[in-house]
Amino acid sequence: MGGAIVRGLVANGIPVDGGIFVTNRSEAKAASLAGLDGVTSIALESEPDGNARAASSARVVVLGVKPYMIAALLDEIAPHLADDAIVVSLAAGIPLAQIEEKAGARAVVRSMPNTPSTVGRGVTGIAAGSRASGDDMAIVRRLFETVGSAVEVDGDDGIDAISTISGSGPAYFFLLVEKFIDAARHQGFDAETARLLAEQTFIGAARLLEAEGEDPAELRRRVTSPKGTTEKAVEVLQRADLASMFSAATDAAYARAKELATGA
Ligand SMILES: NC(=O)c1ccc[n+]([C@@H]2O[C@H](COP(=O)([O-])OP(=O)(O)OC[C@H]3O[C@@H](n4cnc5c(N)ncnc54)[C@H](OP(=O)(O)O)[C@@H]3O)[C@@H](O)[C@H]2O)c1
Repeated sequence: MGGAIVRGLVANGIPVDGGIFVTNRSEAKAASLAGLDGVTSIALESEPDGNARAASSARVVVLGVKPYMIAALLDEIAPHLADDAIVVSLAAGIPLAQIEEKAGARAVVRSMPNTPSTVGRGVTGIAAGSRASGDDMAIVRRLFETVGSAVEVDGDDGIDAISTISGSGPAYFFLLVEKFIDAARHQGFDAETARLLAEQTFIGAARLLEAEGEDPAELRRRVTSPKGTTEKAVEVLQRADLASMFSAATDAAYARAKELATGA
C-alpha cells in the first residue's frame, strides 16, 4: 500500500522538497522502488538506522507497516521526527490515541486506503487526530488524491465506518463477480467465456456509470424495458433484499473493527 502511494506521488509529479525517502527491510523491496524519480530507497538490511534517517528529514511520515508493528516503529522513529512532522498511519485497527501517545507533540492522521489505490483509483478515508490542523489535513488529502479520491471522516469511528464501505468494498465487488461468473457457467458458457462476460459487463457498466454521471437507478431503468427480460431478472434480485444484506454485512465489518481496536 505504501508503495502504491509512492508511485502515485511520482506519477503525478507532486514536488516534494528534499525528495521522497522510502524504507523497507529487504533489499528486494527497496530495489523495486529505487528507480523512481526523486525517490531515495533504503533497505534496512544494509542501513539498519535507515528509518531514523528517513524520519528526521520528513515533513510527512507515512507508516505503512502491518498494524502489529506500528508501536515498535513509532518507538524507533519518534526521537528523530521533526517538530512539524505529520505522522500518517495506514494501519487498520490502530486508534488515533495509540499513535498520538507515541508521536510526542506531532500531528497524527489516520487513514484507510483501499486496494484500487494500486491502479490510481482508490478511495481513502482520512481522520484528523487531536493535533492535526486544517493545513495538515490538506497536505494529507493531496497525498492520497495522487492515488484516487480522499474523503475526510470524523475520528476512529469515521475510519471504522468508511472501512466497511470503501476499505472492504473491493472484496464485496469481487464476490459479486465470482457469483456472476457462476451464473454465466449455469447458462452454458465455458469457464473462459463466462469470466470474460461477467468481468467485462461489470467493468463496462462501471465505466458507463462514471462517464454518464447519472444516478445508477436511472441507468438501470434505461436497460430495463417494461415486460422485458431484464425486468424479470431484476425482480428476482430485488426479492433478495440486497439493501438489507449490504447493511448487515457492513454492520458486521464495523463490529469487527471495534473488536480489532481492543486487540481482539
Ligand atoms: N492492503 C490493503 O488493502 C490495505 C488497506 C488499508 C490499510 N492497509 C494497511 O497498510 C499497512 C500495510 O499493509 P500492506 O498490505 O501494504 O503490507 P505489506 O505488503 O506487508 O507492506 C509492508 C511493508 O513494510 C515494510 N516493512 C516492514 N517492517 C518495516 C520496518 N520496520 N521499517 C520499514 N519498513 C518495514 C515491508 O518491507 P519488507 O517486505 O522488505 O519486510 C513491506 O514492504 C497495514 O498496516 C494495513 O493495515 C492496507
